[in-house]
Amino acid sequence: MTASRKDDHVRLALAQHEQGPAPSSGPAAPRPSQFDDVHLVHHALAGTDREKVELTTAFAGMTWPVPLYINAMTGGSPMTGAINGDLAIAARETGLPIATGSMSPYLKDPGTADTFAVVRRHHPDGFVMANVNALATPEQARRAVGLLEADALQIHLNTVQETVMPEGDRSFGCWPAAIEAITAAVPVPVIVKEVGFGLSGRTVARLADLGVAVADVAGSGGTNFATIENGRRAHADYAFLASWGLSTPAALLDARDRGLPLLASGGVRHPLDVIRGLALGAHAAGVSGLFLTTLQRDGLKALISQIRQWLEQIAALMTLLGAHTPAEVATCDVVLTGELRDFALQRRPSASGTTKDS
Ligand code: FNR
Repeated sequence: MTASRKDDHVRLALAQHEQGPAPSSGPAAPRPSQFDDVHLVHHALAGTDREKVELTTAFAGMTWPVPLYINAMTGGSPMTGAINGDLAIAARETGLPIATGSMSPYLKDPGTADTFAVVRRHHPDGFVMANVNALATPEQARRAVGLLEADALQIHLNTVQETVMPEGDRSFGCWPAAIEAITAAVPVPVIVKEVGFGLSGRTVARLADLGVAVADVAGSGGTNFATIENGRRAHADYAFLASWGLSTPAALLDARDRGLPLLASGGVRHPLDVIRGLALGAHAAGVSGLFLTTLQRDGLKALISQIRQWLEQIAALMTLLGAHTPAEVATCDVVLTGELRDFALQRRPSASGTTKDS
């Protein structure tokens, strides 16, 4: 059951990312996103020298070689184990940190261990993140970290997905205490993430109180698990939740300065979205469905060259902006427009325009 659900998720996520008309020539135009409401003000004399730009990003006592990572997706079946192996090779070849998908299959059936452990085997010196749900016991969380010799543990919060999932949980009240217990028990930093509906400022402040080290906002705009799980129901009766949640830029605006370092993921389409995430205060940006689509559609070599191109272009954009480090991107002038500005004006009036010029 679990293995076929993991295969379903990959199949349905790929179908979602491949939707839309094929372009008649050239690459497809990126789909519209609230990231488009984040504008970096162009200053023609702000540029620096490429060799002075450093991609290393440091936060919560961790140092990542680049401000880009492959976020949690899969494991638990033969097909998803093969995907994890390829993703780990791509991460190794490009220096990206990588997370496995939820390790619940391994915690229920140790026979699936290798579909997750393959990530550490292929990326022996890389930054690897284990992933559990909020209902894992402290002992299970330690086992998940141990299997991967993980450098950090992700705990995913997925109340919307569980609600739409026919076989999903319906009891969420114990999650804060469970997160606190896991965080106290594991020997590595804990990163709490959503799965595509965003973490609000209120949630991030609560997570800080629970001892969590980092919040990955994992907002809407990309892979949509309300739609995926709705597609697995006999009657697609939760279609009205398709636009639920906070977009990634909205979540970053809501959650910044609430006590935790932030990561930007969910609907990141290209290197400019990475830079926009950094400009809104994130330390790195994560990608899931888009990299999975490249891997499954075009193969491992294509994924490695796509990630290399992204890293070059992230550095090129930082050079243009005069940002020597990912942290300096957060000091660039930003203007917000459209729905994102409306959101920011209601939620964080002081954060709704961040131009530093006077
Ligand atoms: C996911 N995601 C996910 N997240 C998580 O914490 N544990 C998991 O097991 C999974 N499983 C999973 C499977 C597949 C096939 C995909 C595409 C995604 C969610 C993922 O980490 C991310 O938060 C969302 O996909 C939003 O990012 P993108 O896809 O828009 O870049």
